[in-house]
Amino acid sequence: MSHFSNIVCRAHQLLREVLHPGDLAVDLTAGNGSDTLFLARAVGPTGCVLAFDIQDQALINTADRLRLAGLSSRRSPLSPSPSLLPGVTLIGASHEQLAEYLQAAPKGVIANLGYLPGGDETIITRSESTVVALRSASDRLAAGGRLAVVVYPGHPGGEEEGKRVDALFCALSTKEWQLLRITVPNSVKAPYLLVAEKR
Ligand SMILES: C[S@@+](CC[C@H](N)C(=O)[O-])C[C@H]1O[C@@H](n2cnc3c(N)ncnc32)[C@H](O)[C@@H]1O
Repeated sequence: MSHFSNIVCRAHQLLREVLHPGDLAVDLTAGNGSDTLFLARAVGPTGCVLAFDIQDQALINTADRLRLAGLSSRRSPLSPSPSLLPGVTLIGASHEQLAEYLQAAPKGVIANLGYLPGGDETIITRSESTVVALRSASDRLAAGGRLAVVVYPGHPGGEEEGKRVDALFCALSTKEWQLLRITVPNSVKAPYLLVAEKR
């Protein structure tokens, strides 16, 4: 796909603008690891990346993706660790638990919703937990930080989840937030991107 309408590329571009070496970044849905790898490169070896997924296979795929790129990762212990370590920490838990793992304000957060590409398409992000995770991320985001959400309305449940995410973004005050929504206007089922920047 060309970069022109590739929504995930757009999400990375917009996060790259605010991420710097040493920052804390969060991937709320690790999946096959492309977003985690992007964040790890953006914050460098002195930065921290927390990557969540409820599927063990996703965390295995993410660790493999990082290893192929020459980066290591660690699995988080079952209970949240008291300190953030530099590098990538893979967390086998729902992103609803984000607050328990955050000891600092993240500069960039990505949620690439839907199902694991190449995996079980019935295991999808669910609007109830997605909304909890996004609220938690927006509450804790650093000033000047960005939260990027890629929504997939094309699969069962995706459109409903998109509506809940849209509503959450629309409720953010213009005093505190700048918002952006990038869509493919001639394809209603195409993924779209929501980005919120905290002032
Ligand atoms: C579209 S994929 C993510 C793509 C990924 N970021 C990448 O770069 O390949 C969506 C992922 O969300 C995960 N997921 C679903 N519900 C979740 C939850 N409550 N917490 C964390 N991850 C979840 C799925 O297991 C799946 O791997």
